[in-house]
Amino acid sequence: VGQNLIKLLEVDSTNNFLKVLVSNSEPLTEGTVIMADKQFAGRGQQDNVWHAEPGLNLTFSLFLKPSFLPVGKQFLLNMAVSIGIRNALQSFVKEGIRIKWPNDIYFGDQKMGGVLIENILSGSTYKAGIVGIGINVNQDRFDPSKLKSATSLKEILQQDVNLIELLAEICSHIEKQYLQLKAGSYQQLMDDYVSGLYKFNEPAAYRQNGEVIEGRIIEVTESGLLGILTNGELKHYNFKEVEFLNY
Ligand code: BTN
Repeated sequence: VGQNLIKLLEVDSTNNFLKVLVSNSEPLTEGTVIMADKQFAGRGQQDNVWHAEPGLNLTFSLFLKPSFLPVGKQFLLNMAVSIGIRNALQSFVKEGIRIKWPNDIYFGDQKMGGVLIENILSGSTYKAGIVGIGINVNQDRFDPSKLKSATSLKEILQQDVNLIELLAEICSHIEKQYLQLKAGSYQQLMDDYVSGLYKFNEPAAYRQNGEVIEGRIIEVTESGLLGILTNGELKHYNFKEVEFLNY
């Protein structure tokens, strides 16, 4: 992962760029990374816009071919990638990096990164997984009107971090987790994912269908459902069905 690196000065979105290469059946080596200094139409989850100051942050997409993964188990790829990012960031920041379900990267109660995976299926197998990753690295000013609460590695460490070194660290940690996935170590991945999960087993408030519910996250299933224990009852939620209150 990351052996082939295509560096762009400016692009709409590295995910879009990679998607065009894949749909034109360009010969691409698995593990190829497209990174950009500047994205003018960076995309986040749920049709959000991804903002990042040019030149200061990591915005890249990774080309994977998880054809070994049965459809329906795509979420395990999210898990592998999120764990890889968390582990890589932990080699810079020792404590406090968490994965916020489904695949945000948090430090304390602040967002420092996110993942947008777009799966290209052909029939019942994967043609490609386009893994878009945005990490706030050396940006130290965030527009409060754009993001609820954001932070960066620089804000945490009080020093600049070399983008290419960080990219290499993230790629090597993702590769490690991806090999686990390939080997079918699903339980291990699920365990590692929840062990780094934001608000895991902590009482917290969530909004569901306009209603506030109180409970504790006690599991995330293989298919990515969030299991919240509320009033002694375990309920499972899909991405759009539940949101964290206040964060
Ligand atoms: C999120 O937290 O909502 C996901 C953010 C993902 C952003 C990255 S930046 C590189 C890649 N290209 C995009 O347009 N989006 C992803």
